[in-house]
Amino acid sequence: MIYDFSTLPSQDRYRLLSNFVAPRPVALITTRDVNGRANAAPMSFFNVFSHDPAIVAVGIQDRPDGRTKDTMANLRATSEFTAHIVDMPMAEAMLICGLDFPPEVDELSLAGLTSRCGEKTGAPVIETAPVAMECRVERMIEWPERAIILGEIVSMHIRPDCFAPGGRYANPETFQPIARLHADNYIVANRQFEMVAPDREVLLTKAKCPT
Ligand SMILES: Cc1cc2nc3c(=O)[nH]c(=O)nc-3n(C[C@H](O)[C@H](O)[C@H](O)COP(=O)(O)O)c2cc1C
Repeated sequence: MIYDFSTLPSQDRYRLLSNFVAPRPVALITTRDVNGRANAAPMSFFNVFSHDPAIVAVGIQDRPDGRTKDTMANLRATSEFTAHIVDMPMAEAMLICGLDFPPEVDELSLAGLTSRCGEKTGAPVIETAPVAMECRVERMIEWPERAIILGEIVSMHIRPDCFAPGGRYANPETFQPIARLHADNYIVANRQFEMVAPDREVLLTKAKCPT
């Protein structure tokens, strides 16, 4: 099947992209409103795109009825957020944070997640998250009904048990993030495997001397 995106209706683009560009990491994004109230929402249109500067991107669209999401309103007001990588122990809380609550509801307390203020930003940092990246909005690319937020990571918190012995690399036994597939389907990184690239020189030699 080939789909022409120049004519494809918006809801079909969403269906195809969210079904087939998968799995996508889920970031639980925390922000504060102008009065300091905490907010949390999961976002799977999310990833890291550069390390120097360290940039993550988040795609946020308005609600189907046209209302701006609290996360978006808070980002416009404060320019600060924390992006948390989600694992299984946080999965149910993440789903609670994804429900449509009015702005005055603090999803973190509702979901039973404890947090503290960031080291470098005012955005909440969830205590139990395996990874939390404090970010400042570097730029917003806006379209009607949606925006891509580029956030510069200013501080990264990693739960100590997520490191393998030696403290440099992730421990596949303890750092097992979840990612979103389509609709209500998710996958957890609990079947990790190593894959080493074949020897380049051997391949080049083979390519030069076909048998
Ligand atoms: C796993 C998951 C991933 C989501 N990803 C996104 C996303 O990338 N962009 C978006 O705008 N909404 C996304 N949503 C929906 C928002 O989380 C949801 O609309 C939430 O209520 C927004 O909360 P807020 O108004 O507090 O910002 C996702 C929901 C779930 C459960």
